[in-house]
Amino acid sequence: MSENFAAFLYLVSGVLFILALRGLSHPTTSRQGNLYGMVGMGIAILTTLLLAGPSFGGLVLIVLGIAIGGGVGAVTAKRIAMTAMPQLVAAFHSLVGMAAVMVAAAALYAPEAIGIGTVGDIHAQALVEMSIGVAIGAVTFTGSVIAFLKLDGRMSGKPIMLPQRHLINIALGVALIALVVAFAITQSHVLFWLIVIVALVLGVLLIVPIGGADMPVVVSMLNSYSGWAAAGIGFTLQNLALIITGALVGSSGAILSYIMCKGMNRSFISVILGGFGGESGPAGADDLGDRTVKQGSAEDAAYLMKNAGRVIIVPGYGMAVAQAQHALREMVDKLKDEGVEVKYAIHPVAGRMPGHMNVLLAEANVPYDDVFELEDINSEFAQTDVAFVIGANDVTNPSARDDKASPIYGMPILNVDQAKTCLFIKRSLASGYAGIDNTLFYKDNTMMLFSDAKKMVEDIVKALAD
Ligand code: TAP
Repeated sequence: MSENFAAFLYLVSGVLFILALRGLSHPTTSRQGNLYGMVGMGIAILTTLLLAGPSFGGLVLIVLGIAIGGGVGAVTAKRIAMTAMPQLVAAFHSLVGMAAVMVAAAALYAPEAIGIGTVGDIHAQALVEMSIGVAIGAVTFTGSVIAFLKLDGRMSGKPIMLPQRHLINIALGVALIALVVAFAITQSHVLFWLIVIVALVLGVLLIVPIGGADMPVVVSMLNSYSGWAAAGIGFTLQNLALIITGALVGSSGAILSYIMCKGMNRSFISVILGGFGGESGPAGADDLGDRTVKQGSAEDAAYLMKNAGRVIIVPGYGMAVAQAQHALREMVDKLKDEGVEVKYAIHPVAGRMPGHMNVLLAEANVPYDDVFELEDINSEFAQTDVAFVIGANDVTNPSARDDKASPIYGMPILNVDQAKTCLFIKRSLASGYAGIDNTLFYKDNTMMLFSDAKKMVEDIVKALAD
């Protein structure tokens, strides 16, 4: 295959990747977006194979690699629970980081294979690209492993604050730059591996101080890093597809991190500097002090909603854990049959990943027209009879709006407290991901429905039928 034709095919796959990103930005077009991405990747892989024209032995190795890697990926993707998606993404990013390190090492030891010079005499430009790619790749690898361990609960989600950590990180960053310069001049293999070691350590130190609440932002940031690492290696390998894909992943990850920070009213810098959020166990009735909590049953909830004119549903992480979306849809259908107007309100950071709630509601065939974004529905709570909060917590916490001392002050919230009655399904008075108490639980117009979300909604459905 001619280089020109290959460049054209890479361009086609690049356009398909852009269409994929565009499609993935809305639930109605996301399947099509995925399809574009798959076709684009298929074209990119085939073009690379045809362009390189590997020997029979090489081809067997490549097919074996695709079969094993693709097999493991397919089985994992089928088995993974939606709530475990962030840690899966983190685990996959660690592989991208590791791949960048491996490819750079291969280029260092066999530069003639990709036409960037000979051992000890590699082109200066390739050396710089290679060393930057390998440094970002190694940071991404260990950073993603730590993010995976934290998100999967194998390591505490609490921020681990080393003394003088900012100084240590700056020193390591400076050392890394010095090593990259020295390596570009000397081409020393020892310096190359030193870059890898320092970057691996930096990856760990950058992520351990970051608390659980900020972890999804970090995963998206690492996603962005992995893209830039791939683009760096793409320059070394002179592979257009890798450069385009890397740049797309790098920039879309950065934009996603920005959107998430905006949704939580946190600055990107404060996320990177760490120290926010942690873990908290369920709070029991003994922790209440002189505050009181109104508790209700499924029958109470059914009665209130049956007699309401307007109900707004606010789903959160707990609905995902309980997989209550199908039962919820059934409940809403019953309420609509009774003539109640029902809408869904989605907070931009409800759940544990962008679009988490939209995906779950789509799975339960909730019509898209019933689902509203925060800014489109927030003013309606004041004219609503019942706000039905199912497994959400932080995204409704009025202290984000009213308490300047709150760690989530400034984060936009859904104004469920302005509804006539606020029904709250969760299992206890425990805090949400940000680890802070929710004053809403103790308000006069709040009725807590302590239960697993699915069980409670199923009971409400039964009570509505009676
Ligand atoms: P959270 O504030 O995390 O609260 C979820 C609540 O669900 C918990 O308090 C828990 O209370 C309850 N729960 C858990 N399992 C349940 C079950 N089986 N049945 C019923 N309830 C259950 O969730 P949220 O309101 O969706 O807020 C999301 C949080 O994640 C925010 O702090 C946000 O900043 C953070 N975050 C999200 C993202 C994205 S992109 N979505 C990114 C970064 C950070 P109990 O234990 O008492 O049941």
